[in-house]
Amino acid sequence: MIHPKESPCTSGTGRKFATRVVRTVSGTDARTGASSVPIYQASTFHHASLENPPEYDYTRSGNPTRQALEDTIAQLEGGARGFAFSSGMAAISTAFMLLSNGDHVICSEDVYGGTYRLLTTILGRMGIETTFVDATDLDRLEAARRPNTRAVFLETPSNPTLKITDIAAVAEWARKHGLLTMLDNTFMTPCLQRPIELGIDIVVHSATKFLGGHSDVLAGLAVVSNERLGHKLKHLQNGLGSVLGVQDSWLLMRGMKTLLARMECAERSARQLAEWLTRQRSVTRVYYPGLPEHPGRAIHERQSQGYGAIVSFDVGSGERARKVLEHVTLPLVAVSLGAVESILSYPAMMSHAAMPREIRLQRGIGDGLLRYSVGLEALEDILGDLEQALQAAR
Ligand SMILES: Cc1ncc(COP(=O)(O)O)c(C=O)c1O
Repeated sequence: MIHPKESPCTSGTGRKFATRVVRTVSGTDARTGASSVPIYQASTFHHASLENPPEYDYTRSGNPTRQALEDTIAQLEGGARGFAFSSGMAAISTAFMLLSNGDHVICSEDVYGGTYRLLTTILGRMGIETTFVDATDLDRLEAARRPNTRAVFLETPSNPTLKITDIAAVAEWARKHGLLTMLDNTFMTPCLQRPIELGIDIVVHSATKFLGGHSDVLAGLAVVSNERLGHKLKHLQNGLGSVLGVQDSWLLMRGMKTLLARMECAERSARQLAEWLTRQRSVTRVYYPGLPEHPGRAIHERQSQGYGAIVSFDVGSGERARKVLEHVTLPLVAVSLGAVESILSYPAMMSHAAMPREIRLQRGIGDGLLRYSVGLEALEDILGDLEQALQAAR
């Protein structure tokens, strides 16, 4: 049950999200009626007349295949303009280039490790400082605000402890203080959460995950809420050259056609996996916004249409976590998430390896924490496999 309430996804064309996700992504080729957008495998375009240059002149600046993807994600997120990048980190780092030397950022504390690395080791060197805070607490955000604060970067649910931030409340606070708001919507996708409708300025995605959905393409997307920001981000995308190639743009659209069906199936299993994990003696804690005891559940239900397909759980120690990883036979033991196949990750040594251990522990990312990205396999097989791995780890 992915849409517990009638979602605002009927906005725009008036069609339901399920219809829009298929019809928007599929589109048809205006010239031939082909059922998928052609791959315009060209780096440059002929100028029939210098006075009337063609709509597209060079693929870094624009390409019809990439444009179809960018229009699609803008529509699905309910934004003014979309942009496709060579990776999620390319989308995030390009968005941060809206800032300048001397600016200050406030960021969710248990943000994706790559974003942490960008902010601390790259942007820090360029004079952009960051304060990491528990963004679930508005008072802490306010306490972190400085005269030079320019932007707030959020992840909700956060990675990997699935903390929930009240998007509309933070967006309103940020607007009052003239701060740019950015939100990483990778875990939810526009199927489940549309932050721009809640007041966020820029939504970013690692489209490598649920949007692509098949562990076969690396890509990033960004959507802006208004044309003014769109103009600035276009300038940066072209200037930095961090664009997505045309074949990957097509492949990503191919994956996105089945986004809702995949999310529905994976989420159904994730809910049951989370409940099942709470009953396992060897599991000390389960993190999933759909569990009744999750502190952010009510806020999450207000701002989202589902709980997602990521379940994190703690098995008590690094040694036990390693044993579980050695004994599972069904999920890929890998970095990444959001694919048709289940993926089990060990944040301490994978997604959050860039975070120093003491900071990682402070942020609740313990040595025994595992992150399960639920795929489309039969739930019985997922549970059976995990049961034997947990037993082996006792
Ligand atoms: C939440 C989140 N944001 C951003 C990224 C970075 O995306 P990419 O690996 O496509 O660069 C990841 C990658 O794991 C992620 O999980």
